[in-house]
Amino acid sequence: MIKKIKKIIKKKNKSKIVCLTAYSKNIAEIVDAHADIVLVGDSLGSVLYNYNTTRKVNLSMMLEHAKSVRMGVRSSLLVFDLPFNTYRNKSEALKNSKKAIKETKCDAVKVEGGVRVQHIVNHLVKNKIPVLGHIGITPQTVRGKFKSVGKTENESKKLIRDARALEKNGAFGIVLECIYSDISKKITSLIKIPTIGIGASVHCDGQVLVTDDILGLTASKIKFVKKYINIKKIINSAILKFKKEVKSKKYPTKKYSY
Ligand code: KIV
Repeated sequence: MIKKIKKIIKKKNKSKIVCLTAYSKNIAEIVDAHADIVLVGDSLGSVLYNYNTTRKVNLSMMLEHAKSVRMGVRSSLLVFDLPFNTYRNKSEALKNSKKAIKETKCDAVKVEGGVRVQHIVNHLVKNKIPVLGHIGITPQTVRGKFKSVGKTENESKKLIRDARALEKNGAFGIVLECIYSDISKKITSLIKIPTIGIGASVHCDGQVLVTDDILGLTASKIKFVKKYINIKKIINSAILKFKKEVKSKKYPTKKYSY
C-alpha cells in the first residue's frame, strides 16, 4: 500500500481528513497545500460543462482534467473518479483504471456503489489499484431529485451492508454522500477504514466538498454546501477594472509595453 494511503487510514479517530475537488492545475496547486486528498471528481460534468447528469462525463474528459490537476498536486493523494460506464465489469474497470494511472499518474480511483461493485473493488485492489468507495447518494445512478438516505431501517441496513462490503474487499476509504447523521455515525464506528462525508454529518472521519462550490463559483443551493467566499465578486471587480483601463487607455502604460 502506498505511504500516502497508510497515512490517511491512520488519521481515523485521530485527525479529520480534508478532501476537495480540483479539475485543473491552478486550483489543484492551492488545494494541495491544505488537503489530504485531491479528487478529480466527475462533478466536473455539472460544474464545468452544465450537464444535468454525471453520466455524460466520459473517460477522455476525465483524463485531460486529471493530467492538468496532476501538475498542481505534489503532496496530497490524487484520486481519479472513474466515470459512468467505465467499470461495468472487472476487466473494463481494470483496463480503465490502469489507463488513468498510467496517463495521469493518479494514486487511486473512486467507484460508486457498495455491494453492487464489491467484486470490482476486489479485482482492482488485487491488482494493486487503491480504491476509494462511494455510497449513499451516488450521482451516476441516482434518479430524480437528490435526497438524503438512511432514515428508514431498510435504507440504513443497506448502507451498512454496502460499507462493510467495500471494507471487506479492500477499499481504503469510503465517501458517504447525503446520509442521515445517525447512520453515518454508525457506519464510521463499525468500519476500520475512514469515512469521508459530503452531507453526511460531522461524525465522518473527514469531509469532502466541491471546491468551486465553497469558493462561490457555482450557484449550488444544496443544503450541505457552505460557501466560504464569493470569489465571483472578486474576479468580477478585477475584470471590471481591466475593462475600464482598456477603455480609458490607462492600460497598458509604458511599464507593460515593449
Ligand atoms: O464527483 C465528485 O466531485 C464527487 C465528490 C463530490 C464526492 O464524487
